[in-house]
Amino acid sequence: MKKIIAANWKMNKTISETKSFFHNFRNQSSLLAEGCEIIIFPPFTSIVEAVRECENTDIKIGAQNCYYESSGAFTGEISAEMIRDIGAEYVILGHSERRKYFCETDEIINKKIHKALKNSLKVIFCVGESFETRKNGKVNEWIERQIKNGLKGLSKENFKNIVIAYEPIWAIGTGKAINAESADEVVKFIKKYLADNFDSESVILYGGSVKSDNVREFMGLEDIGGLLVGGASLSAESFAEIIFASG
Ligand code: PGA
Repeated sequence: MKKIIAANWKMNKTISETKSFFHNFRNQSSLLAEGCEIIIFPPFTSIVEAVRECENTDIKIGAQNCYYESSGAFTGEISAEMIRDIGAEYVILGHSERRKYFCETDEIINKKIHKALKNSLKVIFCVGESFETRKNGKVNEWIERQIKNGLKGLSKENFKNIVIAYEPIWAIGTGKAINAESADEVVKFIKKYLADNFDSESVILYGGSVKSDNVREFMGLEDIGGLLVGGASLSAESFAEIIFASG
């Protein structure tokens, strides 16, 4: 099974910056380890350009969000159909920034996941606890609730197209990644939960302050199927270093 290295660009990069990223990224070609599946999530406005840049490569492109209706009077929203239409193959759903700044509940995320899967998009579903929750020893309960509600109604077949990203909120963008042992505990908990409750399995990524110097700690863990990288994916050089370090 190939390990996944995914780049979440968040609200960064114009079209010309996207072009220049891929130009630089191609120059790191020797670093594009065959052992990894690379997925890049640009902002909506750069997806078409990114898809074009990645034609005839194995790099996949995804969107950072989608809406749960197909079309209609939903000003500002973009549907799963539209994302598929421009050549993206993945979508990130349940990211903590969407939960926090855009008030996305487990129920909304669940509807989006169903819609994305119906439209043949693969989903990277994010879960993760706050520092407070960790301090109170409630990590497993928290993650269990997010998974139970977020993945409600999915079939065993659906799980082939679901990747789960464990991203502790306090580790995102802070430079303080979780230690590998604690990440491993949560990942193992998720695996067991999926097996017990959905009779399914899924690739599980770690995300939160991943950099080239901590990649090996996470990738060395048997149950971690890859990484979701934010800040360190914005430069082609540092993203390529991460891919190299994970090979
Ligand atoms: P970070 O973001 O790598 O900048 O911590 C990860 C994410 O939000 O997916």
